[in-house]
Amino acid sequence: MSTHENTVTVLTGCTKGLGLAMATQLAAQAGSLITLSRLVMPALTEAASKGQTRLTQIAVDLGDGQALEAAAQQMRQAIAQALTQKPTSVRIIHNAGLVHPVAPADRQTDWEAINMAFNVNITAPIFLNAHFLQATEGAPDRRIMLISSGAGRNGTHGWDVYCATKAAMDRYAEVVDVEKHANTRISSMAPGVIDTPMQETIRTTPLDKFPNRQRFEDMKAQGVLAQAPETARRLLAILQRDDYGRTVIDDVRNHTF
Ligand SMILES: NC(=O)c1ccc[n+]([C@@H]2O[C@H](COP(=O)([O-])OP(=O)(O)OC[C@H]3O[C@@H](n4cnc5c(N)ncnc54)[C@H](OP(=O)(O)O)[C@@H]3O)[C@@H](O)[C@H]2O)c1
Repeated sequence: MSTHENTVTVLTGCTKGLGLAMATQLAAQAGSLITLSRLVMPALTEAASKGQTRLTQIAVDLGDGQALEAAAQQMRQAIAQALTQKPTSVRIIHNAGLVHPVAPADRQTDWEAINMAFNVNITAPIFLNAHFLQATEGAPDRRIMLISSGAGRNGTHGWDVYCATKAAMDRYAEVVDVEKHANTRISSMAPGVIDTPMQETIRTTPLDKFPNRQRFEDMKAQGVLAQAPETARRLLAILQRDDYGRTVIDDVRNHTF
């Protein structure tokens, strides 16, 4: 697939970081963009009007089940509307994520925080994906990208909750893949280490909770963190490729551009 025209993209977590970078790029292209974030972003509305993108911003806390039920219905309506334009491809990118609560296993006692991380990182993607698959039944090309993490593939001290949610994403992607939904490709994609507000959070986590902090401070100091706009460009390019989904558990660093 070589053109962005007439694609429909659903994207979560567009207020900052990687999600904002992807949304900004998608809003500058033709097609339809449906976002689910806690805040509506006026800058995206402006970018979409310049880029002739049909933009629907849905305000929702992805950790709130009741609000998410209503948002899923709004998403379905927006998808139904976009499908009347006979898009060449419909895609959903599950980007919103939380690294907190960070603590070693014997101090992980904040039930609300653990629950919120699971809700945002894996429950909401599973739930929204079901609605996406139902709403796009019969579409000729459906693509799902879960923004996972290297943390889902390697245990990291203090990241018990984060690693568990990202590992869950990987397994979930494999299940969707083996179920062979019509015209559907999926990957769970590690995006690399990116200079976003999440990295700031990581660098300010107390050392007693996160002893690996120095590694991330060093990466920032050495200027080796990827920049969000470049990672966004790469992820959107991968999503567009003809062989998208051939590798279900994937990593942006394994691709050439
Ligand atoms: N940065 C990295 O180095 C890195 C590495 C590996 C994987 N990742 C993954 O990449 C994705 C994006 O990360 P990032 O670095 O861009 O993170 P970020 O800067 O912290 O941004 C996270 C986004 O998720 C949204 N979000 C969080 N909780 C939400 C909720 N309850 N409801 C709705 N939206 C919510 C945030 O919105 P609010 O502004 O409303 O909080 C924000 O838009 C995440 O899944 C992360 O795990 C990042």
